[in-house]
Amino acid sequence: MSRKRSVLDADVAGKRVLTRVDFNVPIKDGRVTDDSRVRAALPTINHLVRHGARVILMSHLGRPAGTGYEEAFSLKPVADHLATLVDAKVSYVRDVCGEQARAAADALRDGEVLVLENLRFEAGEKKNDPAFARALASLGDLYVDDAFGVSHRAHASVVGVPELLPAYAGLLLAHEVETITGMLEDPRRPFVAVLGGSKVSDKIGVIDRLIDTVDTLLVGGGMAFTFVRAQGHDVGTSLLEQDWVQKAGEMVEKARAKGCDLVLPVDYVVADRFADAATTEVVAADAIPEGMMGLDVGPRTVELYAAKIAQARTIFWNGPMGVFEMPSFEAGTRGVAQAIADNAEANSIVGGGDSGAAVNQFGLADRMTFVSTGGGASMKLVEGEALPGVEAIPNA
Ligand code: 3PG
Repeated sequence: MSRKRSVLDADVAGKRVLTRVDFNVPIKDGRVTDDSRVRAALPTINHLVRHGARVILMSHLGRPAGTGYEEAFSLKPVADHLATLVDAKVSYVRDVCGEQARAAADALRDGEVLVLENLRFEAGEKKNDPAFARALASLGDLYVDDAFGVSHRAHASVVGVPELLPAYAGLLLAHEVETITGMLEDPRRPFVAVLGGSKVSDKIGVIDRLIDTVDTLLVGGGMAFTFVRAQGHDVGTSLLEQDWVQKAGEMVEKARAKGCDLVLPVDYVVADRFADAATTEVVAADAIPEGMMGLDVGPRTVELYAAKIAQARTIFWNGPMGVFEMPSFEAGTRGVAQAIADNAEANSIVGGGDSGAAVNQFGLADRMTFVSTGGGASMKLVEGEALPGVEAIPNA
């Protein structure tokens, strides 16, 4: 991909720089509980501050109704947290692009930061409404996109505003795209991908592309049961996408034809119900009892996957192996995360979303080469799809 015009190329001193970030972070009791997305945006924010820009940050948070302010989705806690991380004055305004936002933007001095309210409080954001994009754009002189996590959404702040202002890629956006495309185009081998998550239907494009690219594809999570079914075994009450069984079988065939080692779990932790306190047992993958549901891969699978991961020189991981949010079913995901962390020789890249949350939960993020901030966006990139947010930035 050609290089995009970078924020490093922009003359930002004294300018109002409207910067799209992805501050869609988990918040509990008014506090940010995982600030990795905020920290990931710091290089761009600090660059702008140091170069005397008037930084106006805009983000979405969650999925509010789009009918105005809702406290549960306010960016105020994120603005408060950001203030503890940057060496600059950070203010917040309870407005997206109305009169209060304009007044706050006009009051900014060089090197100061303003956080606007949640873009999705306005219906125009998701609709990419031209009038809303114009109102946002009027707050700034330049536009910087550092929101990789939302670059697969053609929303007003992602694709509308860069049509109206000189637009630049932020440092995170550029780094994410370079890292993920670089991994696919020029991997050190063996290249091992670990793919989990609940649904085959969500990941079919990714599976298809990875079979073309990787040496080994380790499958886990809820989606593995559709593969187990395709091999003719019963899956009890485990997650199953009946309509995708045939496609899963075709993927196994494709992998065989291409010489890609597609590996399915050999055992599972099954439970009598979907609860941490459920009665559990470990069973072989072809012997899931009637009435039981698989909620994690079993210990023999972890051992098998860890051995394959240990040989890798490039590792891509997306999607948990089981219901890692419940302690009874976290061992598979933890085991895979630990095996990736233990392979210090490999270039290890973790797709965002749940696998990003898992490595943070296990305290292993620092031992990965790169943890993406975009779950959906990184999947689209791996699938080979163009990202609207990246397309919207002119080439250098
Ligand atoms: C994410 O968390 O994946 C991004 O912030 C995008 O959020 P969305 O799926 O609500 O558009």
